[in-house]
Amino acid sequence: MKTNKLLVMGITVAVAVFANACGREEPVDMDAVLSSPKAFVGSETCKTCHLEHYDSWKMTLHSRMLQDAQKNRDALIVPIEEKRIREDLAQLGDQLKVPADEIYVPAEDEILYTIGSQWKQRFLVRKEGTLYISPIQYNAETHRWVNYHEQDWQARPWLLKCGGCHATGVDLEKGTFSEPGVACEACHGKGSWHAALPKTAVFEKRETIVNPAKLTLGVAVQICGSCHNRGSATQHEGAGWPVGYEPGKALEAYYRSTSFEAGDVRHVYANEFSKGHHQQFIDWRQSRHYSEGVTCMSCHYVHQVGMPPTRSQTVSAGSKQCFECHVQVNRNLAHSIHSFANCLGCHMPRIAKSAESGDIRSHVFMTLLPADTLRDDRIPNSCQACHKHKDEDLKELQEKWETLAVIPSPRGRIVEEPVSYRFSR
Ligand code: HEC
Ligand code: HEC
Ligand code: HEC
Ligand code: HEC
Ligand code: HEC
Ligand code: HEC
Ligand code: HEC
Ligand code: HEC
Repeated sequence: MKTNKLLVMGITVAVAVFANACGREEPVDMDAVLSSPKAFVGSETCKTCHLEHYDSWKMTLHSRMLQDAQKNRDALIVPIEEKRIREDLAQLGDQLKVPADEIYVPAEDEILYTIGSQWKQRFLVRKEGTLYISPIQYNAETHRWVNYHEQDWQARPWLLKCGGCHATGVDLEKGTFSEPGVACEACHGKGSWHAALPKTAVFEKRETIVNPAKLTLGVAVQICGSCHNRGSATQHEGAGWPVGYEPGKALEAYYRSTSFEAGDVRHVYANEFSKGHHQQFIDWRQSRHYSEGVTCMSCHYVHQVGMPPTRSQTVSAGSKQCFECHVQVNRNLAHSIHSFANCLGCHMPRIAKSAESGDIRSHVFMTLLPADTLRDDRIPNSCQACHKHKDEDLKELQEKWETLAVIPSPRGRIVEEPVSYRFSR
């Protein structure tokens, strides 16, 4: 019965899409479309009408998060050479809970999907019908293999622990997902009704899909927060992602974020700044940007025709991103010490870890001073990413800072030249 309904709906969608692709609109039975259950149709279907969005989304990491390694061997960013892997693992010595020569290393053709490609890569294998994350990880920037849950990997099914953040349309009951990666419907919701309606039914089209730009800011940003977050599901025991959440819903009903206060010393510093990766939403919620309505989408594109080729899909590259809004920053006090204007260096220090510690940025946007670390050595500071020579004493750095940061830089007020004066010269 269920499969029949799905089949009928599938055909309805296929016919509508085909008709559209031919530039011809077949009459669509709207009631039939709207009375069938909403389902996932996949980004290839969205592509038939939104080619430009599809193209720019394809350029982003979202589309590449999970890749089918059987269909595309190039998804593997590194060859799986058992000897080399075991040599690297052996270097880890005491950190290993299973001896290096006993850790399970999958053969290359056992790998069904790759997870990630930018900072690190992990690999999915199937055991007794279930997908698991194999216990090895490749760190891209340092070119080394490390262990990953070598002792309990077979007790951690990927779909339950990670699935909803890396794939689209995950169904825990059936043990399936509709599409690998963070696809259109992860942010726009199930698209079967929208896709099946005729192109000319513009208003019905708009009403049957989530456009984050038309939600209130606070609700829209929770779409990003459904993945750029860490914690546990409230509606499903043991799940690491917000099972049941859909774009447009209130995330907190489905997910509880982690915190230092709740005892998560592994992923959060003592001042509640993130130590772990994919916690940008947790950081941002503590910032002034949050209270002023500056959201993820104020700084990041997820798809955009002519998207600038910046790192992390920011609207402008690096510190220029800050100048999109902070037109004028006082060149005095804290901002007078350096001869350069590396806003990110101080306000978004790399204190969180994806592959190796300190490769991911803080999103609280607050500068951490040496004094913060001196007060509590479980708290990092912004300065030591650069001031890290062994002879650089933290106390001295703080003292220098205190002396220099109170001295206003010797600049007079800028006096506008009257136009007439300028021409008379
Ligand atoms: C048959 C063509 C077609 C298909 C397939 C299609 N769309 Fe659309 N989409 C449209 C049309 C037409 C509009 C209305 C444009 C307008 O507002 O002028 C639209 C609008 C949208 C909007 C903006 C809605 C709004 O309120 O402004 C989003 C978001 C969207 N589509 C996403 C998707 C996604 C995601 C998929 C795949 C699940 C998809 N579309 C599949 C034709 C299509
Ligand atoms: C990571 C989340 C995310 C993914 C993935 C995503 N979108 Fe969007 N989409 C957004 C956001 C956010 C907006 C609103 C943009 C804004 O604020 O201007 C949007 C807006 C749109 C719009 C409305 C027109 C516009 O540009 O404002 C369309 C159409 C659309 N997306 C289609 C797609 C299609 C097709 C895909 C897949 C190929 C896709 N999106 C994938 C988040 C996403
Ligand atoms: C709550 C959502 C969420 C869960 C649960 C989650 N991740 Fe992620 N993961 C993300 C996000 C978002 C990123 C990218 C942002 C970042 O790393 O800060 C990411 C990044 C990664 C990367 C690095 C990607 C790259 O290109 O380098 C890997 C590998 C990864 N995750 C594996 C896993 C595995 C394995 C699990 C399950 C044990 C898991 N993640 C659970 C959201 C999640
Ligand atoms: C005020 C601007 C701003 C806001 C708001 C913002 N980001 Fe960022 N984000 C940046 C900048 C700048 C970078 C670093 C770019 C670079 O390294 O050149 C970045 C980097 C990232 C990265 C890449 C990982 C890293 O740390 O290098 C991810 C993922 C990310 N942001 C996600 C988010 C999410 C999700 C939100 C909302 C919760 C968000 N950002 C809010 C400016 C912002
Ligand atoms: C379904 C989960 C999911 C949702 C929803 C989601 N993301 Fe992501 N995002 C990820 C994952 C996973 C990655 C890492 C992809 C990879 O490394 O291959 C990522 C990566 C990123 C990056 C880093 C790209 C880079 O070049 O380093 C940015 C920026 C980002 N997301 C912003 C957003 C914003 C803004 C939103 C909301 C509009 C959003 N994401 C919604 C899961 C998600
Ligand atoms: C989309 C606009 C926008 C962008 C881009 C932006 N900001 Fe802001 N920022 C704001 C607004 C609005 C405020 C609040 C202004 C106020 O309180 O006067 C703010 C406040 C701040 C504050 C003050 C925090 C406090 O507690 O007083 C800092 C620090 C800051 N931003 C740093 C940055 C940095 C660093 C960047 C670049 C990564 C950046 N901003 C990018 C809009 C933006
Ligand atoms: C992006 C790298 C970077 C970051 C982040 C950084 N510094 Fe610096 N700092 C430098 C460099 C390089 C110099 C040398 C002078 C110059 O080029 O301005 C310097 C110079 C200084 C000086 C004056 C020269 C001296 O040693 O007598 C002080 C004081 C100082 N930094 C303190 C800090 C403090 C405190 C922080 C953290 C809030 C910090 N810096 C963050 C790179 C950095
Ligand atoms: C040497 C480290 C350092 C650098 C580099 C730096 N800032 Fe700051 N900034 C601070 C400190 C310290 C404060 C005081 C408040 C705080 O702790 O965040 C501050 C405050 C701010 C504020 C809050 C308003 C104000 O004036 O008090 C804004 C906005 C800001 N910075 C933006 C920027 C931008 C934009 C850049 C890049 C041009 C930048 N900062 C570079 C350390 C730095």
